[in-house]
Amino acid sequence: MTRVAVLGAKGRMGSTSIAAIEAAEGLEVVAQVDVGDSLDAITAAGAEVALDFTQPDAALDNVRWCVEHGVNVVVGTSGFGADKLAQVEKLFTEDQTVGVLVVPNFSIGAVLLMRFAADAAAYFESVEIVEMHHPNKVDAPSGTAVRTAELIAEARTAAGRGPVPDATTTDPDGARGASVAGIPVHAIRARGYVASQEVVFGDAGETFTLRHDSHDRESFMPGVITALRRVGSLRGLTVGLDSLL
Ligand SMILES: NC(=O)c1ccc[n+]([C@@H]2O[C@H](COP(=O)([O-])OP(=O)(O)OC[C@H]3O[C@@H](n4cnc5c(N)ncnc54)[C@H](O)[C@@H]3O)[C@@H](O)[C@H]2O)c1
Repeated sequence: MTRVAVLGAKGRMGSTSIAAIEAAEGLEVVAQVDVGDSLDAITAAGAEVALDFTQPDAALDNVRWCVEHGVNVVVGTSGFGADKLAQVEKLFTEDQTVGVLVVPNFSIGAVLLMRFAADAAAYFESVEIVEMHHPNKVDAPSGTAVRTAELIAEARTAAGRGPVPDATTTDPDGARGASVAGIPVHAIRARGYVASQEVVFGDAGETFTLRHDSHDRESFMPGVITALRRVGSLRGLTVGLDSLL
């Protein structure tokens, strides 16, 4: 049995994950940590793996604590762009004894959307991302949108493409969205969504849209279980589920 501690245990993703872990073979929840609880509960319970679904401000400190205490970590919390990933990498000395797996999106459809978006990126002059989430989400843009933008930007650079064309000179209210790695990202917050994303590509005379919708948090659970089963065999930092599929 792999002994799992869930951080953010009382939240939407934490509580859905606890039910999924308890139903999964070979995994058991030994510690449930939320605001106000000491992280010492993780080692006191003998957890081998921690699952973090807290909030962007807290997750990096949690990862640091786990690495220092020899506990593997799966991070589902958003906000791990290039800066924070670099800080995670710095936590590892030459002697890597644990794995940290940062997963911007656990659903298979979203993982495939990111892969297909990176494949398409070389072929289109224009690209923008629209992400849609429930209005209780505290951070924007989503971790998935940030990762998608970074992958698209890498593919464009490798293909020798310059910046996306945009003649806008006046935009006092930020109507053109955020710029992540040079890719425009727009965030919608509306009741009814769980997590959706569109990537819109454009070139002369055509547009091409990739879209994924998570209608229920169940869509993340097979990925969460796979990550928890595999992180113990990783060392150092791994980003995304891609390499585990
Ligand atoms: N990777 C993915 O596939 C995926 C999918 C959905 C959501 N998310 C992300 O997961 C995170 C959690 O989402 P949610 O909808 O469950 O949020 P939520 O607000 O429902 O739950 C967060 C929980 O974390 C707790 N918490 C906050 N700070 C803490 C700390 N320092 N220590 C322990 N617990 C703490 C809160 O009290 C709360 O119970 C968000 O960043 C969200 O964007 C990721």
